[in-house]
Amino acid sequence: MVYNHHTVKHFIHGAGSIKQAADVVKNLGGKKAFIVTDPGLAKVGVQKPLEDALTAGGVEWELFAKAELEPSMDSIQACADAAKAFGADVIIGIGGGSPLDTTKAAAVLMTNEGPIEKYFGMNLVPNACMPIMLIPTTAGTGSEFTNISVLADTKNGGKKGVVSDFMYADVVLLDAELTIGLPPRVTAMTGVDAFVHAMESFCGIAATPFTDALDLAAMKLVAGNIRQAYANGKNLKAREGMLYGSALAGMGFGQTQNGIIHAIGTTLPVECHIPHGLAMSFVGAFCVGFNYIANPEKYAIVADILRGCDRSATMSVLERAADVEAAFRALLADLDIKTGLANYGVKREDLPACADRAFAAKRLLNNNPRAASRDQILALLEANFEK
Ligand SMILES: [Fe+2]
Repeated sequence: MVYNHHTVKHFIHGAGSIKQAADVVKNLGGKKAFIVTDPGLAKVGVQKPLEDALTAGGVEWELFAKAELEPSMDSIQACADAAKAFGADVIIGIGGGSPLDTTKAAAVLMTNEGPIEKYFGMNLVPNACMPIMLIPTTAGTGSEFTNISVLADTKNGGKKGVVSDFMYADVVLLDAELTIGLPPRVTAMTGVDAFVHAMESFCGIAATPFTDALDLAAMKLVAGNIRQAYANGKNLKAREGMLYGSALAGMGFGQTQNGIIHAIGTTLPVECHIPHGLAMSFVGAFCVGFNYIANPEKYAIVADILRGCDRSATMSVLERAADVEAAFRALLADLDIKTGLANYGVKREDLPACADRAFAAKRLLNNNPRAASRDQILALLEANFEK
């Protein structure tokens, strides 16, 4: 098997690094920066330190605060049109996964003819994008380190991805001070999502020694800091651990893929409006219990990381691996995240359709260490409906 490992070529990290934003723009040859975020973040001024840094450094900027939670194709076009009208030469995404995905897709349309749906699929973008800078303000999606933008296909339904190596950011800036204001509940949900990215990549079929190194470091950072970041959002050391852990997970799973947790968690009924990280949390709890027998060596390591200690001297591999579900549930309990699908508005009669959709998510299931039939998925959903 031959693997390719592509990633972001330049990233800046450190508390207060946002102050370097103007220099970054200038080094990219830019004079006019187009800032993309979402309305909720703009309202609380998450992007303000970026605006201040650009102004102080003499870089002209304009704010586009209309990134959608599930970016539609029209919203990408609107973003690109506004950036063109401004005369932007660098595009900066700041926020969670949605603004960052909007930025990457809009950057495609700055140098390639639209509409964006022409580029749904793998490496169909012909020309390099406008220079992209990405600044995550949640520690969860890892979108800043991936080459994919997930959009809502408003014409055909469902979600589609534009995947292109041209969409790797030219620069990623990781400043944990920007994540201090993230509410505890969001910190918990997005943080578990980051852990799940690293875990599904680490235990998955496409894992390599290179992704293992990234995913291991990611899991240790997230598991070692998530409780502290949840308990006290002002803990900068914990915030930094979470931000770097999420970024490392993005570097890892961006090369491999997620697995059954994302296959099931992303196909729960849309009308339940379950946030992505929340779905990954309670679905993750029962999926690790299903998966561990397929790769006990790896799940033994995951369980030890979740428990915060290496138990290899006193327990067998299988004993440690078998503890992974309880260890995962213990983390959720500390984060006040309930398990059981019924707690989130899912109805019993929804389960067969959920199983159908999850089973159709081959891109994800093909990386899962344990083969899963549609009936096994349905049985898992039923067994964990109230648990
Ligand atoms: Fe995720």
